[in-house]
Amino acid sequence: MHDFEFKEGQLWCEGVKVSSIAERVGTPFYLYSYKTLTDHFLKIQKAFAKLDPIICFAMKSNGNLNVIKSLVDLGAGIDIVSIGELGKALLAGADPKKIVFASVGKTEEEIAFAIETGILLFNVESEPELEEINRIAVKMDRKVQAALRINPDVPAPTHEYTNTGSLKKKFGIDLGTSRQIFKAYKKYSHVKINGLHIHIGSQITSGVPFVGAIKKVITFIDELSAEGIKIEYLDIGGGLGIIYKNEIPQTAQQYADKVIPILEKTGLKIIMEPGRFIVGNAGIFVTKILYVKDNGLKKFVIVDGGMNDLIRPMLYDAYHEIVCVAQNKGARQKFDVVGPICESGDFFAHDRLLPKVKKNDLLAVMSAGAYGYVMSSNYNMRPRVGEIMVKGDKFKIIKDRETFKDLMRGEKIVTW
Ligand SMILES: Cc1ncc(COP(=O)(O)O)c(C=O)c1O
Repeated sequence: MHDFEFKEGQLWCEGVKVSSIAERVGTPFYLYSYKTLTDHFLKIQKAFAKLDPIICFAMKSNGNLNVIKSLVDLGAGIDIVSIGELGKALLAGADPKKIVFASVGKTEEEIAFAIETGILLFNVESEPELEEINRIAVKMDRKVQAALRINPDVPAPTHEYTNTGSLKKKFGIDLGTSRQIFKAYKKYSHVKINGLHIHIGSQITSGVPFVGAIKKVITFIDELSAEGIKIEYLDIGGGLGIIYKNEIPQTAQQYADKVIPILEKTGLKIIMEPGRFIVGNAGIFVTKILYVKDNGLKKFVIVDGGMNDLIRPMLYDAYHEIVCVAQNKGARQKFDVVGPICESGDFFAHDRLLPKVKKNDLLAVMSAGAYGYVMSSNYNMRPRVGEIMVKGDKFKIIKDRETFKDLMRGEKIVTW
């Protein structure tokens, strides 16, 4: 599953002891395993080989240049949601013809840059957005391709905030409106609408919702085809769940076995947008204990990382396994693992069983590779932490910890 393992009581990432990295770079930091990252990508590539899909890594899950480049080097495309992500994907060497662009609120500047770059597809999320893309493409005298992001309105068992395939959510276009758009497709002189896109949510562990959504959209494609409208691309989105605690998610192969028989009959070019599946378990967050305190009612482990570094526990009530980097066999007690930030929501775990721990012990918050660093902030004037990657028996700093100067960039005292 991943390459973070205990050997003789010490946590290792591939061939490097996690504590030795902490000694060299200080805490807190994110740590990624190159092997886990690339193995997960290759698992999807292998399972879906029969369809030869374009696998566009959803870089919103982890936007580090080295993470993206590691995947691009294996043939990955990129799923982007902003002009910043597009710029970074290009820096990492991504092929524009393997870039797809979703986002419910693309700005004129973003659309123009994406047209200029020559991306593969705009995943369009509303009729006014389609009109805007056409207007800008006319102005630039360029022809572009688009997929309508269909909101299939299917139930997806996941957290309310990561559920995107219901009509109660802002994402995509309902089937009725999509039909109207195709009826009037000739008015979009510079946009070839030759794709459909779905992304129903994230951390979905069962195949059922994916199959339901795919079947729905294929029925729509058949309907369009009967009217002479040809669809070439079907982007089936991301959303594959991973193990954080005791989930039993479908494997890439199980997912492929369910959907390939449905997809291969269509003859469509398939695009996928996995994020969490590739990078979630390829990263951990390493933090150091500052204090241990007991207020009579509860015991707290106070660490040097906070909710600004990893917000998933607070935002989604997400569970992350927490382990001592140096295993300790002492009797286990319940602790709240909390950060230094002035919010009661600043926690990594409540009532978590940990062995006897003390100041300066290192803790690893597991499965933190996806939606970890990318969601971090400078709240409480805290610098973003560094990011480290291990490959074999070497580690490299792939992003420096921010400095006070970084925190102050652009800010100035004005006179009136
Ligand atoms: C359009 C789109 N595609 C792909 C993804 C990636 O999802 P996941 O990380 O669950 O695979 C997301 C995540 O929210 C998304 O919004």
